[in-house]
Amino acid sequence: MERIVIKGGQKLRGTVKVSGSKNASLAVMAAASLPAGVSTLRNVPKLKDIETMGRILGVLGPRLKQHGNVLTIDATCYREHLAPYELIRTMRASIYVLGATLARVGRAQVSLPGGCAIGERPIDLHLKGLRALGVKVEIKHGYIKAEVKRRRGGKVNLRGPHGSSVGATVNTLLVAVLAEGKTIIDGAAREPDVVDCVDFLCAAGARIKGSGTARLVIEGVRELVGTEYSMAADRIEAGTYLVAAAMTGGTVRVTNCPVRHMKKVLAVLEKTGCSLRVQGQAVTLRRSGKLKPFNVRVAPYPGFPTDLQAQFTALAAITPGRSVIRETIFEGRFMHVAELRRMGAKIEVEGGEVIVDGGNELSGAVVMASDLRASAALILAGLVGRGWTAVRRIYHLDRGYEDMVGKLRKLGASISRKKEKNH
Ligand code: EPZ
Repeated sequence: MERIVIKGGQKLRGTVKVSGSKNASLAVMAAASLPAGVSTLRNVPKLKDIETMGRILGVLGPRLKQHGNVLTIDATCYREHLAPYELIRTMRASIYVLGATLARVGRAQVSLPGGCAIGERPIDLHLKGLRALGVKVEIKHGYIKAEVKRRRGGKVNLRGPHGSSVGATVNTLLVAVLAEGKTIIDGAAREPDVVDCVDFLCAAGARIKGSGTARLVIEGVRELVGTEYSMAADRIEAGTYLVAAAMTGGTVRVTNCPVRHMKKVLAVLEKTGCSLRVQGQAVTLRRSGKLKPFNVRVAPYPGFPTDLQAQFTALAAITPGRSVIRETIFEGRFMHVAELRRMGAKIEVEGGEVIVDGGNELSGAVVMASDLRASAALILAGLVGRGWTAVRRIYHLDRGYEDMVGKLRKLGASISRKKEKNH
């Protein structure tokens, strides 16, 4: 196990390049398992989650190889229908193999993905979407057992109590594109990751209308062909580095930044008093004066992303005054709060609202990462905490941030990875 050690107080300066989107890559890897041929995916980040998805698909048949940020998937053969618990439990997105396996094999046995640090993570909307396409589903002994004799189009609304579902939209899409007839998905998720999945499938020969909207209309086709596709940049990674610059009071140029996916995020950063210069796919953030408190409500895309809630909580912790961040998507996404409090942050969580009375200086501490975005928030707090901060269990971070230590060090942070002391 390793920890990340940071000496706080350095203002960040320089340029950082955003990697390809983790969540888009995971969805498109599943989609690229549909054509019985070879697909080449570009701008795929080198991450633990990508490796895990590759391993799971490898067990089912497709052959994957990643060189740098290019991933080739040869899905000519797809022979297995059983996705084992020990692989599935490590990553929520592995649920995408349910749709891919049903599309290719007509039956699937996939372990129920466990809950995780941010919430219970039900799959009822996934099953609702699949059942609308004629899939028979039962849950037994911790496994989803699904079978479909004749995949037929259907009409379904995938909106749930917390709005749209990225995963349910993707899983339903994966079966609909090869079903007979027309499928209408209302209440579809509009996240850029879903758009990448739709656009990949269209490039592979699928017939889908409504990309980026809440209504997807799919005309099933008999088969798809392998193709090439380049992932969008990761808006959550981009937002994380912009918050890092805002917190340290530096000047950072974020390149390969998916500006059009970040309207709400950039608006909140401007509200905090940062100055932002947008030039094409590059955003330069400068913060010289005092930060101003802000209120933000998380919402499905194009709303403010839940995946930046923890990072903005860290920003609020050093912003004088009261900021309020309302988390509406994951009921348990507050594991970072206790750790930030240990660094001196004044945060209360009441009924899904993170209420932060910020402005006092944070002090470095040994803190524990609990999930991917909480780890990022703790690293950001360490960049400004007085003295040394050690973030433990950073395997969480390696799931979703490509070389964060290297990127922050290039911006002038005093940060390094260290082997955990045995104790
Ligand atoms: C995706 O998770 C992302 N993961 C998450 O990013 C992201 O936070 C989330 O979408 C919301 O944008 C990947 O893309 C791999 P949902 P997903 O289904 O698909 C409820 C990160 O840090 N729901 O859109 O699992 C659910 O409980 C990760 O990169 C149901 O009720 O999220 C939540 O409240 C974390 N029933 C809401 O919908 C269902 O069947 C949105 O969940 C499915 C979901």
